[in-house]
Amino acid sequence: MALYGRSFLKLLDFTPEEIRVLLDLSKRLKREKRLHIGHKHLTGRNVVLLFEKTSTRTRCAFEVAAMDLGMGVTFLDPVSSQMGRKESIEDTARVLGRMYDGIEYRGFSQNTVELLAKYAGVPVWNGLTDEFHPTQMLADLLTIEEKLGKLEGVKVTFMGDARNNVANSLMIACAKMGMHFTACAPRELFPNGELVECARSVAKNTGATVTLTEHVSEGTVDADALYTDIWVSMGEPESVWAERIRLLKPYQVNEAAFSRAKEEAIFLHCLPSYHDLKTEIGKDIHEKFGLAEMEVTDSVFESPRSVVFDEAENRLHTIKAVMLATLSK
Ligand code: CP
Ligand code: NVA
Repeated sequence: MALYGRSFLKLLDFTPEEIRVLLDLSKRLKREKRLHIGHKHLTGRNVVLLFEKTSTRTRCAFEVAAMDLGMGVTFLDPVSSQMGRKESIEDTARVLGRMYDGIEYRGFSQNTVELLAKYAGVPVWNGLTDEFHPTQMLADLLTIEEKLGKLEGVKVTFMGDARNNVANSLMIACAKMGMHFTACAPRELFPNGELVECARSVAKNTGATVTLTEHVSEGTVDADALYTDIWVSMGEPESVWAERIRLLKPYQVNEAAFSRAKEEAIFLHCLPSYHDLKTEIGKDIHEKFGLAEMEVTDSVFESPRSVVFDEAENRLHTIKAVMLATLSK
């Protein structure tokens, strides 16, 4: 397989055909899992998961996927390894590369995951950095294809902090797969200009389009999918909440936003989400700012349009595909 030995650091490194191979492999693995057809193709191999930020989906998807493939797994959180404080990224990469067949990394800088990949000598997979969240995108593309029957020509609108890791990756994913991406956000939170140019140059070859708008009515019109993410990402200081709420309140995904979208439009969210008062942060924001729901209303989140739990499940099948494709010849 052409993907053998490769790292999965960002979608920009992959052609549309390679992304298609990963999506098709994900579908096969999902089908097999449903039918209880075992696929321990990597028995005897071992992977290590490095998490400098918290996670539910990504960690569990990597662990279960590795076990389904027959592999051993080590999980390291920020306080249980020497990485960063007592040992450089370069040295850590070379040590782990001698012991493991693959390395997953979630943390802050994209540069760290790129450095790990440069020095490890084994595939490194990006489980989220401040800049990109590429494994999330495979799950999102798979979910869109399952629900809408295609990717090409599908109009996806991201509402919210359009310069965050998920929005950046979604813009690139759509550009690669011939989709119409719209970032619907206040100007202050538009994606980085260089990345937009990069996405537009990819789009030229795939028939995709990349649009930025401040206007909700323009951004949501005829959308096939509305996508949002939390307004303040991991690693950002608490002090940004007030300003973020002020900027993003008009971009909440609610019934009004869906009123201009296609009738059968779906709702996507990478999760976790603040759609009610059942979380500590949700309650805290409610006390401080009076908001009972944030980036999405509870009614949209719980509606039949919402495909967020299929999307979450697809993290497992797509992450498994990435490990299988990059670790087997
Ligand atoms: N969507 C996502 O990456 O979730 P976790 O932070 O729980 O891994
Ligand atoms: N933008 C979010 C994504 C979480 C999966 C964050 O970085 O916290």
